[in-house]
Amino acid sequence: MQYEIGGFFGICIIILYVLTIFNYVMKFLNKRYGQKLKKHVVFTKSLKCIVRYHKLFGLLTIAFLLVHFLIQFTYYGLSVTGAIAAGGLLLQVALGIYGTKAQSKKNKTWLYFHRFIAVALLVAILVHVW
Ligand code: HEM
Ligand code: HEM
Repeated sequence: MQYEIGGFFGICIIILYVLTIFNYVMKFLNKRYGQKLKKHVVFTKSLKCIVRYHKLFGLLTIAFLLVHFLIQFTYYGLSVTGAIAAGGLLLQVALGIYGTKAQSKKNKTWLYFHRFIAVALLVAILVHVW
């Protein structure tokens, strides 16, 4: 039972993670196929929602991470792969917050790291779940 509840919160983190990744995917689709896709209300509405709530989705992962960690740590102890994934996620969110503040300036280096960690995080999560 605890396993299932803990797993449920793990899945919540993954769903939010996917929604944050869609910030890239939807913008990419818009750039490539924007002319054709702009007729589709579902696409334009999703694009707006994904971009507008990116920071919220990202921040919420931390709340679910905390719950997942507390449950799994209580019943199973530490998971090394989980700790690595969690470290990446914390770093990513911290970078996102930093980037929000730095965004007005022209320097976009942080964004390259933010994109890179997004992919590295996918690998870390897959290793943890498998
Ligand atoms: C980015 C962070 C994390 C994500 C996305 C994540 C996600 C998940 C998912 C989806 C499951 C499998 C649930 C199932 O199959 O029903 C799981 C299992 C588990 N997680 Fe995490 N988790 C994360 C971090 C952590 C951390 C920090 C710990 C440390 C205690 C941890 C400990 C565990 C344990 C013990 C299990 C069950 C056994 C196992 O499959 O290894 N996880 N996690
Ligand atoms: C799970 C955590 C997160 C992931 C996986 C993630 C992933 C991404 C990705 C892939 C992009 C690139 C989109 C593009 O190329 O335009 C991006 C952009 C960005 N992210 Fe995140 N992010 C996360 C959390 C956050 C958080 C918590 C914040 C701030 C509070 C944030 C702020 C930003 C900003 C400011 C951009 C620049 C583009 C924009 O404003 O949409 N991110 N993120």
